[in-house]
Amino acid sequence: MEKVTMDSLVSLCKRRGFVFPSSEIYGGFAAIYDYGPYGVELASNIKAEWWRHMVQFRDDIVGLDSSIFTHPKVWEASGHVKGFSDPLTECKNCHVRSRVDHLLEEVGIQADEKMSESMINELFAENLDKITCPKCGKNKFTEVKKFNLLVQTNLGNFTGDWTKDPTYLRGETCQGIYINFKNVLDSTRVKVPFGIAQIGKAFRNEITARQFIFRKREFEQMEMQYFVHPKKDMEEYEKWREYRFQYYVDLGIKKENLRWHKHENLVFYAKEAYDIEYHFPFGFKELEGIHARGNYDLTQHSTHSGKDLSYIDPVSQEKYIPHVVETSAGVDRNFLMCLSDAYNEEIVNDETRVVLKFNPRLSPIKVAVLPLSKKEPILKYAEPLAMDLRKLYRSEYDETQSIGKRYRRQDEIGTPFCITIDFETENDKKVTIRERDSMQQDRIALDQVSTYLHDKLGF
Ligand code: GAP
Repeated sequence: MEKVTMDSLVSLCKRRGFVFPSSEIYGGFAAIYDYGPYGVELASNIKAEWWRHMVQFRDDIVGLDSSIFTHPKVWEASGHVKGFSDPLTECKNCHVRSRVDHLLEEVGIQADEKMSESMINELFAENLDKITCPKCGKNKFTEVKKFNLLVQTNLGNFTGDWTKDPTYLRGETCQGIYINFKNVLDSTRVKVPFGIAQIGKAFRNEITARQFIFRKREFEQMEMQYFVHPKKDMEEYEKWREYRFQYYVDLGIKKENLRWHKHENLVFYAKEAYDIEYHFPFGFKELEGIHARGNYDLTQHSTHSGKDLSYIDPVSQEKYIPHVVETSAGVDRNFLMCLSDAYNEEIVNDETRVVLKFNPRLSPIKVAVLPLSKKEPILKYAEPLAMDLRKLYRSEYDETQSIGKRYRRQDEIGTPFCITIDFETENDKKVTIRERDSMQQDRIALDQVSTYLHDKLGF
């Protein structure tokens, strides 16, 4: 089929309970979304897969769950208070605010999101005559301003004007990793090279709310910081680029929908930065960043906290501040990618079948038990089977509507196997198992169902 449209994805997400606009009964809340019953399962499976590959399969990476609130000095040291901003302009006619790099992109000018402020300003000035407001179409804009993305809070501040002395919701999860570097080093048996991985929420005051869950103000990151000897950083960097790209291919994402984007405009401390981009319905966009960050972050936190964050090699006794290779992926962008890649429309018996051909590990529901009647000779097999399967897999039991409708419902949420129990079951003690993608059906003995599923699913 042709590439799926955003309209089809958004509609499926709402119809089948994957994603809801947040606070919808109050008119919604821009760039904030809630995951519904199937969405929470998909997101949780995406995180579990990442954790399996980044922590469980490796003996050089440990996990962490640092807090969302941190000392405000963390964000001063990291450079976020001064420099974590996007270029903003406002339409003088309708007052809609836009990100300048996005306006430039609309007229075909690649404005790298990591470009310096002055470069973006220059590009904007040069191309101003071509640029129009996305809302009213006029071309009168205010001067470009820097807009800081950190979300401020009044946590722990009970007096006066807290905006003068704010705390912040974290803008990225990796700062929690840096400030725990020494704790992990002192409390575990890790040795350089090693990594610390964490999954968690991050918050940014994104200027524009668009492209559904691609750009949210509250989102989730899966980040890993790999600490290496300063002379080994680029060697490790290349390994990580390969590992992370292959991860998506092994997850079943179509290779032609993935590509590399090299950042030409790097922040002063970075040695190299590549994005893995995915071909979303609105074009190739960043899915994950892989960055060689030098020793900037640990050095900054050492200087600002006054605590020595260097490492002493246990064999050579060499003392140094490790360099960092970072892999940073968004849960929400992975979510949108998985939906987009799995979405298929097929004509079956003159009707359109919408089916999500997920890797079964990602499927919200692994198996659905569908009795063909609510009568006793069927229920006596269906209910115990459903109970047994529930202990093994996230499963569903559904006895409503026609079997055709029930199959369609499971196809639309990407359930790899549906099991029907019919009147024959009483005689042959067998059930029919239908596979999602081929729609092929196998007749399997009741006592072989779990072995069959285990063999087919591979888990
Ligand atoms: N620690 C590095 C860092 O945060 P980033 O490129 O700003 O780098 C990393 O973000 C990843 O986080 C992105 O590749 C993307 O997947 C995700 N991400 C960033 N901003 C996001 C947003 N507003 N909504 C959803 N995901 C976002």
